[in-house]
Amino acid sequence: MEKKRLSLRTYLAFWLVLMVLLTGAGLIITINTISSILLNNVVPSVHVIDIVPSPTNGQSTVKDNNIGVTEGKVVLEKPGQGLTYNQAVQKALKYLRIISLVSLAVILLLGSLGAYWLSKKALHPVESLSRTVKRIHANNLTERIPTDGPEDEIKELACSFNIMLSQLEQHISLQRRFISDAAHELRTPLSVMQINVESLQDNPETTREEYRDGLGVINRQLERLKQLIDDLLAMSGSGTIELREKINLKVMNAEIMAALEPVAEQYQVTLHQEPVSDVYCTGKEALLSRAFSNIIENAVRYNRVGGEVAIAFDEHQNDILITIKDTGIGMAQEELAHIFEAFYRIERSRSRHYGGAGLGLAITALILEGHGGTITAESTPGEGSSFTITLPRPKPPVESRVLRERSKR
Ligand SMILES: Nc1ncnc2c1ncn2[C@@H]1O[C@H](COP(=O)(O)OP(=O)(O)OP(=O)(O)O)[C@@H](O)[C@H]1O
Ligand SMILES: [Mg+2]
Repeated sequence: MEKKRLSLRTYLAFWLVLMVLLTGAGLIITINTISSILLNNVVPSVHVIDIVPSPTNGQSTVKDNNIGVTEGKVVLEKPGQGLTYNQAVQKALKYLRIISLVSLAVILLLGSLGAYWLSKKALHPVESLSRTVKRIHANNLTERIPTDGPEDEIKELACSFNIMLSQLEQHISLQRRFISDAAHELRTPLSVMQINVESLQDNPETTREEYRDGLGVINRQLERLKQLIDDLLAMSGSGTIELREKINLKVMNAEIMAALEPVAEQYQVTLHQEPVSDVYCTGKEALLSRAFSNIIENAVRYNRVGGEVAIAFDEHQNDILITIKDTGIGMAQEELAHIFEAFYRIERSRSRHYGGAGLGLAITALILEGHGGTITAESTPGEGSSFTITLPRPKPPVESRVLRERSKR
């Protein structure tokens, strides 16, 4: 069963009232106790021995034989009823208690009203914040919470909220663009297939040869669709995979180069790996292999006839550096800033070379980020590009670390 919680206002008012009650009660108990001690112990008591009523003015004369002389005047409450000093003290203390309790009740009542008003006033900015937040939804992320109030915690909360909204707005707009780009990419092969199917269907004199050609086109478009869907899946799921395999990057790269050899031959580009001893990292081999392939394939496809692609490894204390350098068409600085965005293609290179979806580098960046690595690019138009990958070096197991520490001594 869900636990019922008090509203913040009730909670605040409750604690304020409790504080008023405790303070008031404490004060009253203290006053009463002190008064009682003072009157009973400190002020000397008077023993009234004789009360001699005066018949004329209702005043009586008091004679205290204990302390000798003392004469005073007492006013009798009712004729014939005298009060000893102690009785008068007890009566005064009783009145004090009654007045204290009545005062406490009044303080409590006023305190409760005050506490309720105060908590309402204190929570007013939170309520207006909550009203604004309720107005904001996915289609209305441009709205912001006003931050023109005093410099207090509420303003800080509103500012943090506005920052979160800006990030959310940016994120959602990126997502929308991604979906529309993806839909556009999926639509193109479908349209090509539709045109082919319709032309084959509409023409009753279609020859066997034309059918074969048409099916060939459809098959290529299906391949393209499959690749695109694989890429989209890779973009949506790379963060959730276990990254514990021990990978020999040198061996992995040799396999990638062998697989890309036919493409390199087609583009008349030479692939070259600089000599290196075994280089290890931890991660998911299938993903890292895909990331490396994307970059090397780009380096081949966006190269010139007779060009080269050189791959080099360098081990630093904490990182492994992998450089993939090509002698291709290169990119301008303003283009470099966007190449890791999904669906970004440079039309110039695309028209001359190859019609990819523009997802390769975005997927690569995601995979490397998931492995705790980075990727950067430098390029000169007409001269070539250089992509640098960093991956963290695997940490040695604790036991071997201890052994190494000992052997240093
Ligand atoms: N080595 C390179 N030299 C020149 N331009 C490059 C290079 N690598 C990438 N580019 C440019 O960056 C763009 C984005 O590359 P990316 O790999 O993301 O997409 P793509 O190759 O067009 O398609 P795919 O999704 O099939 O990889 C490419 O279209 C290309 O214009
Ligand atoms: Mg590519």
